[in-house]
Amino acid sequence: YADYNQKIDYVFKIVLIGDSAVGKSQLLARFARNEFTVDSKATIGVEFQTKTLAIHNKTVKAQIWDTAGQERAVTSAYYRGAVGAMLVYDMTKRQSFDHMARWLEELRGHADKSIIIMLIGNKCDLGSLRAVPAEDAKEFAQRENLFFMETSALEATNVEAAFLTMLTEIY
Ligand code: GTP
Ligand code: MG
Repeated sequence: YADYNQKIDYVFKIVLIGDSAVGKSQLLARFARNEFTVDSKATIGVEFQTKTLAIHNKTVKAQIWDTAGQERAVTSAYYRGAVGAMLVYDMTKRQSFDHMARWLEELRGHADKSIIIMLIGNKCDLGSLRAVPAEDAKEFAQRENLFFMETSALEATNVEAAFLTMLTEIY
């Protein structure tokens, strides 16, 4: 845990992107505050939350940015300085996965070349409604050189693991 007056060794900016309603804000709420809201409202504008944690004996502050998937009004300021990105789709909505290529293109057009990118198939608690086979996502991730995990913000499955994998890779 982090003491409030603890020295911060690194600040890592991470951005969340993906279609509206895939669960970006709930993944962030789960990671940063261990909270989940069923009737979560669409994000307006840009928000961020931070979480301080220890990685390899250093104190790392993750500053995680979240914006509206719907507006697609993401500007270069959103990506500026980001060292990690989570490309999130809803595994029960094929379209949100099909849009990953476009989000990735936008990300690569704006972000630093060395950015660490993780593909996230969220809502794995709804397994019976799966519309995206894990194999499809793995293949896409491999081709595009991304990390890949399936998560559930609702059940807290792999949420911490996804952020920790990303932060450790950045480090
Ligand atoms: P925008 O802000 O519009 O871009 O959407 P978002 O990607 O931030 O989606 P948000 O986190 O607001 O979640 C959208 C809806 O999906 C909400 O009703 C959430 O409760 C629900 N949701 C998010 N994560 C999960 C999950 O892991 N499982 C299930 N079953 N529902 C989820
Ligand atoms: Mg949101």
